[in-house]
Amino acid sequence: MSTQAPRAPKHVSIHELRRMKQAGERFTVVTAYDATAARLVAAAGVDAVLVGDSLGMVVQGHDSTLPVTLDQMVYHCAAVRRGLARGDGRVHLVGDLPFGSYQASLEDAVRAAARLAAEGGVEAVKLEGGADYAEVVRRIVRAGVPVMGHIGLTPQSVHKLGGYVVQGKDADRAQQLLRDARALEAAGCYALVLECIPTELARIVTSQLSIPTIGIGAGPHCDGQVLVLNDLLGLDDAFTPKFVKRFAELGRSVREAVAAYAAEVKAGSFPAEEHSFHASSVRLVPVPSADQGPSAADDAQDATGVPV
Ligand code: KIV
Repeated sequence: MSTQAPRAPKHVSIHELRRMKQAGERFTVVTAYDATAARLVAAAGVDAVLVGDSLGMVVQGHDSTLPVTLDQMVYHCAAVRRGLARGDGRVHLVGDLPFGSYQASLEDAVRAAARLAAEGGVEAVKLEGGADYAEVVRRIVRAGVPVMGHIGLTPQSVHKLGGYVVQGKDADRAQQLLRDARALEAAGCYALVLECIPTELARIVTSQLSIPTIGIGAGPHCDGQVLVLNDLLGLDDAFTPKFVKRFAELGRSVREAVAAYAAEVKAGSFPAEEHSFHASSVRLVPVPSADQGPSAADDAQDATGVPV
């Protein structure tokens, strides 16, 4: 019988993700925004967690990701990091640079990435944009923080794109997206999210890059896939885009569970005996109200309110 402790699983680093691509091993990424979700998705065996600025929509209730601030991203990344700390240390953690934190200057970008790494505990940041952002990527990577790129439907540019619509459908746009992908790889991105582009284009981009691609609405040929946790859990009945598969109907389960709780409270059947505490030996001392003198506190009572 071996007395050796089981070896900790290998951490999914940026190098491990590249190895997985080379070995043809698909990997899974899912979003999480808090410690509980992080702990659960890590226990489910995902390879990477993204603290996406999609939290602006699914957590904060905005209709875009634009209002999310850097402080809020730091807060959520740190919560997710604490959740992952309860697992086996295998999961790769990435945080989104929010709108406005990296577009105005290279200095802003490096500072924002450094905050997400230092205060939020992420090991990499993700930013949206193509070849125009190559220099931003270079500077952040030079500062020591790995960068994941994101092209195709880039939600922070929703107004420029004219809505949440599939990108790269015509030859010129497809060609531009391929150029963007190559420029981001050359600038030092270690992985690239392809959002809502045709399957055929995603297959070509994936085959032409040595860094892994991660698809969302980009078909099956990417090296990894990412989904928003709330979407795959079916938490929002009103949101069912074509690229989402609902792997559960937790929205319905939550409604049923909370309705059952409310019904039991109203019927007086919850809390039951097994949820209640008893302390027959406790002696209670009444707390005097503001207009009563301290003498009222002298009238001690037992747990049933009988003066003793
Ligand atoms: O913000 C986010 O969750 C994302 C993923 C959907 C890729 O960017």
